[in-house]
Amino acid sequence: MDKKYYITTPIYYVNSVPHLGHAYTTIACDILARYKRSQGVDVRFLTGTDEHGANIEKSAAAKGVSPKAWADEVSAKYRALWKTLNISYDAFIRTTDPAHEAVVQAIFEKLLKSGDIYLGSYSGKYCTSCEQYYDESEMGENCTCPVHKKPLTEVHEETYFFKLSRYEKPLLQYYKEHPEFLVPKYRANEIINFVKGGLRDLSVTRTKVKWGVPVLSNPAHTIYVWFDALINYISAAGAGKFLDPKNPALHDEKLALIQAENFRELWPADLHMVGKEIFRFHTVIWPAVLMALDMQLPQQVFAHGWWTVEGEKMSKTLGNVIDPAELGAKYGVDAVRAFLFREVPFGQDGDFSMTSFKNRYNADLANNLGNLLSRTLNMMAKITPELPQQADVPMETVEKTQKTEEEIDRAYDELAFDKVLELIYGYSADLNKKVADTKPWELIKTNELKALDILKELIVCQRYVAKWITPFMPTIGAEMQRRLAPGPIQKYEPLFPRIAA
Ligand code: MSP
Repeated sequence: MDKKYYITTPIYYVNSVPHLGHAYTTIACDILARYKRSQGVDVRFLTGTDEHGANIEKSAAAKGVSPKAWADEVSAKYRALWKTLNISYDAFIRTTDPAHEAVVQAIFEKLLKSGDIYLGSYSGKYCTSCEQYYDESEMGENCTCPVHKKPLTEVHEETYFFKLSRYEKPLLQYYKEHPEFLVPKYRANEIINFVKGGLRDLSVTRTKVKWGVPVLSNPAHTIYVWFDALINYISAAGAGKFLDPKNPALHDEKLALIQAENFRELWPADLHMVGKEIFRFHTVIWPAVLMALDMQLPQQVFAHGWWTVEGEKMSKTLGNVIDPAELGAKYGVDAVRAFLFREVPFGQDGDFSMTSFKNRYNADLANNLGNLLSRTLNMMAKITPELPQQADVPMETVEKTQKTEEEIDRAYDELAFDKVLELIYGYSADLNKKVADTKPWELIKTNELKALDILKELIVCQRYVAKWITPFMPTIGAEMQRRLAPGPIQKYEPLFPRIAA
């Protein structure tokens, strides 16, 4: 069985409605998935929702509904948004899926048996929003959460621990032997130093949180939401198929099987795409759990940066949350998708403003891609009613196109989406320059054959532009390909009507 290219987004918390920041991680995966498929790669693209934990319990209580009903509602909102944004995922997992819960329980029992999980008790400072303990070196001033800035609560509870400390050396060894595991490189050191600083065992159950997966052998405990959540990547890869939720006695024996057959088709994941704030969970805890299970580690974890809005963190309280669907309805979903990846080098933080959105839209889309297409077709229609199948183009153009395509492939290898777009827009800008330099609209009058040659070349080149842009702008890319296809030339609406400043 051939290994598929397995790419995942994080699973999204259902305690808030999705915004532009969430869409960012998912669109990045979608672009990559579409590109890989266009290269003939067999892709499995996974996304989903993360539905357990105290925060979701609280959000549901505030709405006066059950956590499950609340999770159903928000999970559906995510799915609806992915539909609107044209996300081509192959699988959608929910952590409340019984098959997933069974895998989590089985894994917990297995690690309990192997001694990787043990019962103890914990006292510490806890942030209920992060669902995480912070030690003194990590907390903010006056015992506050470094992320939420609100006071941490003192918590004392009986809890099961995962022996994370056991994996300090193996993790460091793994990072050393697999330099491609932690990307971008400039975020790797933080992780390496964190692990070098010493790993403490991790509390992986809660007795106070009811909305979670119960520990099979001790149901007074529910499993920590992050432990539950990370496992989605393997339960969605088919681990659940081997587990019978009604027969937990079989779990351990059957868990061994998840490394066999179908599972091999997917695991290990090729890429976990995550935001920078959850990089550590994915590059320290998750690989340690996999090591404890004696399973292969993902090939790569990529951490992207964060979006702010006009310099501020996106937040409901500030009322500056950008709804990607709303923006898409106004300016086109494809324009939004492309903007996010041209504006900021992928990996770094970015700031969203309507001014930069409009400027980029007009410059890259209306004046560059859109204008080139409409002026080429208009001039062409003056000479011939039909677009050609092929055309002889100068060697120089063939070489330039080939070189651009190779550079695009290389940029994708580095997940440099901004570079890919820069290459495409640059190539298109050069074609616009060619139009300005050769003035085919004048040549039509003096040397029609010459004009036709230039226009044919422009058509052929734009077929490449259309193909290259499709992972970013699936609808527009398809429409460009349709307009550029051999056959009668028609009258069309502009692809990108200019936006008034
Ligand atoms: N449920 C966890 C992930 C568990 S994965 C086993 C979670 N969910 S989340 O909904 O809070 O975040 C999901 C993704 O959205 C993360 O990759 C996060 O970085 C991304 N973003 C949320 N807000 C963002 C911005 N403002 N900007 C960019 N991305 C951000 O974490």
